[in-house]
Amino acid sequence: MTLGTGALLLWGGALVGALLLAYFVLFSFVWGAGYAPSSRRVVEALLALAGIGPGEVVYDLGAGTGSVVFAAARAGARRVVGVEIEPLRVAILRCRRRFSPRPEAIEIRRANLFGVRLNDATVVVAFLWPGAMERLAAEWGSGLPPGLRIVSHFHPIPGWTARAVDPVHRLHLYVVPQSLPSAVEVDPESGPDQEDRHDHDGPGDPAGIDAPVVSVGGQRHDPVTSRGH
Ligand SMILES: C[S@@+](CC[C@H](N)C(=O)[O-])C[C@H]1O[C@@H](n2cnc3c(N)ncnc32)[C@H](O)[C@@H]1O
Repeated sequence: MTLGTGALLLWGGALVGALLLAYFVLFSFVWGAGYAPSSRRVVEALLALAGIGPGEVVYDLGAGTGSVVFAAARAGARRVVGVEIEPLRVAILRCRRRFSPRPEAIEIRRANLFGVRLNDATVVVAFLWPGAMERLAAEWGSGLPPGLRIVSHFHPIPGWTARAVDPVHRLHLYVVPQSLPSAVEVDPESGPDQEDRHDHDGPGDPAGIDAPVVSVGGQRHDPVTSRGH
């Protein structure tokens, strides 16, 4: 092999590698976000902020290669659903699932995250670009289970007020409000404040559907309300 052929192979290899990397990171841009895995520190903060533990049903919308999915399963979540659209990442997720200690608790779904039904979810996680968060906000205007906790990493949900914000890790926690039929009178002793705390079969509700306003990292936020609701 001459020096010229060697250099050509080297450049060709580098070009193919760069193209593959660009594909891997950028392919899903058009769908809602490129690939940028959450760091271990962010994932730990996210699990704590959302109160993910035994009994929870967690959806990661745009699961990437599974930083959140496998950490949530390790934390004891009853069920974790990772929704991902990019085929290579789906293959990696399925491979990781196979070798994970609790594969039965994990579902990897190759699907578009828009329109995914979240009826059984207790926690939803999303780390997506602003346009996708906007689209989700519109989609979630009605029909989410009351008490559902949503954690968005990096970009907030436009038009919604966070229950808590962790500015260090750029996490925003939202809780879907309880909706009451307007005609029903509520007895303050036995009203939804008492009952709603048991809306899901998790270990309690650390995020606090009815908990006082949470302040994280020195920032204070109003109780959860979604202007879309
Ligand atoms: C910024 S990464 C976040 C990965 C992971 N959630 C984490 O925190 O490490 C966003 C992921 O969402 C995926 N994605 C983007 N748009 C999507 C869509 N419409 N449906 C499903 N997955 C999507 C991308 O392929 C990418 O893997």
